[in-house]
Amino acid sequence: MSDTVRITLQPLGHEFTVERDTPLQDVLFTYGVEFPCGGNAICEGCKVKVLSGELEVTPEQENILSRKDVAEGWRLACRCRAEHDLTLELAQWDAKILTDDSKFEFVPRQGLGIAIDLGTTTIAAQLLDLATGNVLAVETALNEQARYGADVMSRISFAVMEKGQNALEETIRLQLGGMVSKLIGSAGVDGELVQDVVIVGNTVMHHLFCGFDVTPLSQYPFESPRGDLHRITARELDWIAIPNATARFLPCMGSFVGSDVLAGILATGIHRSDALVGLIDLGTNGEIVLGTRDRLLYCSTAAGPAFEGSCISMGMRATTGAIAQVKAEDGSFKCRVLGNTAPKGICGSGLVDAIAVGLSAHRIRDDGKILNSNGSLSLCPPVELSQADIRELQVAKAAIAAGVRILLKDLGATMEDVGRVHLAGAFGNYIDRSNAHRIGLLPVPPERVQPAGNTALLGAKLSLFSAGPTPLSGIQRIAEHVALNLDEQFQDIFIGEMSFSPYAP
Ligand code: FES
Repeated sequence: MSDTVRITLQPLGHEFTVERDTPLQDVLFTYGVEFPCGGNAICEGCKVKVLSGELEVTPEQENILSRKDVAEGWRLACRCRAEHDLTLELAQWDAKILTDDSKFEFVPRQGLGIAIDLGTTTIAAQLLDLATGNVLAVETALNEQARYGADVMSRISFAVMEKGQNALEETIRLQLGGMVSKLIGSAGVDGELVQDVVIVGNTVMHHLFCGFDVTPLSQYPFESPRGDLHRITARELDWIAIPNATARFLPCMGSFVGSDVLAGILATGIHRSDALVGLIDLGTNGEIVLGTRDRLLYCSTAAGPAFEGSCISMGMRATTGAIAQVKAEDGSFKCRVLGNTAPKGICGSGLVDAIAVGLSAHRIRDDGKILNSNGSLSLCPPVELSQADIRELQVAKAAIAAGVRILLKDLGATMEDVGRVHLAGAFGNYIDRSNAHRIGLLPVPPERVQPAGNTALLGAKLSLFSAGPTPLSGIQRIAEHVALNLDEQFQDIFIGEMSFSPYAP
């Protein structure tokens, strides 16, 4: 037998030879694979999929990887040695759909429950043992409704203009039913023990799942009378894997602010805070909540898709080839490209960095004007930003900053009064908080910003432990919706926030 083995890495296409029995951590590191927990088999960050060849499944891997992952060929590179020729797929640079593994307090119940965060783009679901609080299985997926439109407005348009409401409803009920079956299958439990399913999502997802007409959401004042808690039995949904269950879609808060934000408030506990605190979810529809245990104000603001890398000429999702980080080095830009490969485009976190570094290097003015004579900002060839790209980010940033400022105004507070801001969602996990503050996107200094993960899923899980709406109705009692479009100062504040200056009192 030869003393060497051949390894091919996909999707990068690298091929190389190493000595047999070499730890994968040693060789993959050279090819830019990161080992976030230092190879301690606790983070899953080094997951690789065996496309051909063989890698052993050690007990540590069985502890952290799901049965489904193992069956599909996923292994932890930090626990494996190259004993045979291998072709490996690297998972590291695909934007992972955020789930939740935080510890939480609960009052035990008998039986099993399922929590689902139904997002416009992604879906995360977990099966829990309600007696122990343990997560027994996890499923994530891209929302299959996306084939009818990427964002909520295009789904509403498809539902209303193309008479596609039924197709959207059927698609999502079928997809969630399939995910529920997989949860039961991969945990190897009796589906008859599941009695409760809690679903959270924005108002459009709520209406499309529950079968409520979305037409009111397509026209002024963008309010619907059907935002309440809605229950549907698994039998009505044809979810045969859990025949005894009832699904509860938690109530919307108002306008486009759905139960995902309600769940986020529950998860972060800001409704119990004596000090002024906030929750911000950055996305196409940015959602902002600010307040204390006595009064919470919330709003949604149309930030546009720039934070997700859309509408940017070389924008892309955070996957292989995306510039995810930009720093200044010796007067030029130094880019970190996901997958250690040639840059193909830029994702949201890279965009925020690029603007912040461009401002500090005097390549961009505070009003957003690119100062290079050719009117574009070259990052790492061939990736560059155009003036129009920078305008897109200015609009997104101004929408969020104006929302924060109006809520503070209505609360009679200033940003100095804000003790802490929880930043929800995937983007909140990856964004450089200093740079976000530098460009005026986040109102408080980085040390007062806390990445909060998938607060919607955690809030859905917490709701599984109370069959009634008790904690939620407490939140609804102190929460007030602020319609930004009705604030007569909104336009002036929005235009003022187009500048990339750090947030000022
Ligand atoms: S590096 Fe964290 S699990 Fe391998």
